[in-house]
Amino acid sequence: MKIGVTGATGQLGRIVVEKLKERVSAESIVALVRTPQKAADLGVEAREFDYSKPETLAASLQGIDKLLLISSNEIGQRSAQHANIIDAAKVAGVKWIVYTSLLHADTSSLSLAGEHLDTEAALKASGIPHTILRNGWYTENYTGSAKNAIAAGAFIGSAGEGKIASAARADYAEAAAVVLSSEGHVGKVYELSGDEAYTLADLAAEISHQTGKNIPYHNLPESEYASILKSVGVPEGFAFAIAGWDVSASKGDLFDDVHQLSQLIGRPTTPLAKVVTDALA
Ligand SMILES: NC(=O)c1ccc[n+]([C@@H]2O[C@H](COP(=O)([O-])OP(=O)(O)OC[C@H]3O[C@@H](n4cnc5c(N)ncnc54)[C@H](OP(=O)(O)O)[C@@H]3O)[C@@H](O)[C@H]2O)c1
Repeated sequence: MKIGVTGATGQLGRIVVEKLKERVSAESIVALVRTPQKAADLGVEAREFDYSKPETLAASLQGIDKLLLISSNEIGQRSAQHANIIDAAKVAGVKWIVYTSLLHADTSSLSLAGEHLDTEAALKASGIPHTILRNGWYTENYTGSAKNAIAAGAFIGSAGEGKIASAARADYAEAAAVVLSSEGHVGKVYELSGDEAYTLADLAAEISHQTGKNIPYHNLPESEYASILKSVGVPEGFAFAIAGWDVSASKGDLFDDVHQLSQLIGRPTTPLAKVVTDALA
């Protein structure tokens, strides 16, 4: 029984491999990666797997029984890339695909939702048994800005009073490892989010608490926030995308309270305070 993990040299994929090794033998895990040399420290077999070379994918999937398809980070190309991977999986006889989608992809106003929905539809059309992990926001997406906020004297964003039920990458990675190494998940769609929901004002208060400095949250209009991101070097398209995701957050698109993630991993999700502490270390 071989478990293939795409994106295994990415931030989420590395933790998935680590968590899988706690549950199954390292010999049964195959890292499917763009650059096998980058996977040398993972301690598992690594095969070249570049989404932009569709003609090579089926050969790399030979002998893979279960496939974790971690969504690509190449926004705009993902529907086509993922469709190619699913086609190759069919050719190679993969028996089960687990896909990392987006929280409430079917109703979310996030600009990212469309590509995830396309992939969910392609999985359905493929006839390959599959499981959808609709991952919420990584807490690190926000805590990664903590040091900049301290330097600037304020945490900025456009998420208003929106409640954000994010979770640490490690929580989502563990859920993927649990699903891949246990039974009863075929056909399921899991909405995965953190146990704790916070606003960006709550996050700023936590940063203030941990640093002893007064770091308020300043809510900005979408275009103003995007302009500030652009002024500090974020490419224009990405700056507007980030600001737009915050506007979706203000509408509640990053919120959920069904606790499916903590149920899957059998423990509470990592507290916001802990992720802030890690970000400030
Ligand atoms: N839920 C959230 O808040 C959130 C936030 C950000 C991203 N995401 C999604 O979740 C995914 C995993 O997150 P992450 O933090 O691990 O992202 P990441 O660190 O950026 O990793 C993305 C992975 O995709 C691989 N990849 C990109 N293009 C590829 C290609 N053409 N061929 C083969 N591999 C390719 C990268 O390979 P290399 O290692 O070779 O670069 C990397 O391993 C992201 O890709 C994105 O779809 C979710």
